[in-house]
Amino acid sequence: MATRGQWGSRLGFILAAAGSAVGLGNIWKFPYITGANGGGWFVLIYLLCILAVGLPIMIAEVMLGRMTQKSPVGAFRDLSGKGSLWVGIGWMGVVAAFIILSYYSVVAGWAMNYIRLAATGVFADTPADQVPGLFGAMYADPGTNLLWHGLFMGLTVFIVLGGVQKGVERWSRILMPMLFVMMLGLLVQAASMDGFGKALDFVFGLHADKLKPAGVLEALGHSFFTLSLGMGAMLTYGSYLSKKDDIVTASAAITLLDTAIALMACMVLFPITFTFGMEPSAGPGLVFMNIPVALAQVPGGLFLSVVFFALLTFAALTSAISLLEVAAAYFIDEKGWSRGKAVGVTGGAILVLGIPSALSGGTELFGKSFEGVFGKNWFDLFDYIASNWLLPLGGLGIALFAAWRVGDAARRVEFGEQTAWGRLYLGWLLVLRFVVPVAVVAVFLHLIGLY
Ligand code: TRP
Repeated sequence: MATRGQWGSRLGFILAAAGSAVGLGNIWKFPYITGANGGGWFVLIYLLCILAVGLPIMIAEVMLGRMTQKSPVGAFRDLSGKGSLWVGIGWMGVVAAFIILSYYSVVAGWAMNYIRLAATGVFADTPADQVPGLFGAMYADPGTNLLWHGLFMGLTVFIVLGGVQKGVERWSRILMPMLFVMMLGLLVQAASMDGFGKALDFVFGLHADKLKPAGVLEALGHSFFTLSLGMGAMLTYGSYLSKKDDIVTASAAITLLDTAIALMACMVLFPITFTFGMEPSAGPGLVFMNIPVALAQVPGGLFLSVVFFALLTFAALTSAISLLEVAAAYFIDEKGWSRGKAVGVTGGAILVLGIPSALSGGTELFGKSFEGVFGKNWFDLFDYIASNWLLPLGGLGIALFAAWRVGDAARRVEFGEQTAWGRLYLGWLLVLRFVVPVAVVAVFLHLIGLY
C-alpha cells in the first residue's frame, strides 16, 4: 500500500483545518442568521455553543482520526470492529460530504461570478436600486449557476489531486493568510463608516431580545457546520497529523480562528448595512445584495468588492477541499484507489449531484418545478438534511463514541495528559458524555416538533 499522506508541520495542519472551518458558513451564513435572529443574544449563545459543544467535539474528532490514521469509515471500524453499528457514523460522514459539497459549490460559484461582475464594472454601471435584482436574476438562471458550479468544482478537484501536503496544505498556506489580510483591510474600511457604532451595538449589545428558542437551536446547529464537525472532515485531517503534535492546542487555535473570522465578517457587513440604511435581516441574499450596492457608493469601492468576493471564494475553496478530501479518502483508504482515480470519480459525482441545486433557483426547467419535495427546493432540502440532521447526529455519535467507547488510557495520552491541558481532561470527558447528548437531543426533539 502506498504510504498515507501527512501534514508537513503542525502549522500546516492548523491552517488546513482552519481553512476547512472558515468558509461560507462564516462569511455568508453567520451574518445573515445573526441578522435574522436580532444580533447580540444570538451571538452570545453561539459563542457558548462553540466553546461548550463545538471545541470538545473537535478535539474528539481529531483524536479519533489520529488514533486510527484512517478516514471516518475505517476509523470507526478499527476501533469498534467490523459490522459494528458505529461504522454507520463513518458512512453517514461520507454521504454528508457528497451532499454538502454538491450545494456548497453552487453558492461558491455565485461568489466567483460576483468577482467577475465586480471586476468588469457591472455593479458600477447598474443603477443602485437595480443591483440587488442581479442576485435574483443570477439565482434563477440555470446556465450561470451550472457554469460557475462546474468551474468551482474544477478548482477544488485540481487542488485535492495534489494530495495532502502538495495540494491541501500548500493551498491553505497561501489562501488563509491572504484571506486574513483581506478581512483586516475590509474591517479597517468598515470601522470608518458611520454605521460602525450601530453595528457594534447590534452584534455585541445585549438588549431585550428578539431571540426565539428556535434561534438557540440554530446557533447550536451552526456551530457544527462552521467548525466542519460531525461528518469526519476534522477526523480525516486529524488522521494526517503526526503523533508528536498536541491536539488540544491545535483545536483551540482552529476554533479561535474560525470564531474570529465569523465575528469580523459581521463587523464588515453590518456597518455597511446600517450606513446605507439596509435591513440586517435580508436573509441569504444579505452578502450578495448589500455588499455590491453599498460598495459601489464608497471611494475605491469597486476594488473593495472584488476583494470581498475573492475572500469569499477563497474561504469556500479551502472548505470545499476538505469535503472532497473526505469523499476521496474513503476510496483511497478503503478501496485502495489511487488519489487520481478517487478524486476524479468523487469530484465528478459531486458535480452531477450539484446539478439540481444549481437549477433550484429557476422556478421551472423543462416545464418542471423543483419545489416539489417537502415544499423545499433541492438546494434548501440538501442544506436542511445535512445541517440539521446529519451533522448533529454525526457529532453526537463522535462524542458518544470517543467518550464512552474509546479506552481511557489511550484517550488520556491522545488528549495530552502530560501537557498543561491535562487538568481539563475530566471536564472535557464530562462535556462529551453529558452536555453534548443533551444539547443535540434537544435539537432533534425540536426538529421533529415535540416542542
Ligand atoms: N465549515 C465550513 C463553513 O463554515 C463548511 C464545511 C467544510 C463543512 N467542511 C465541512 C461543514 C464539513 C460541515 C462538515 O463554511
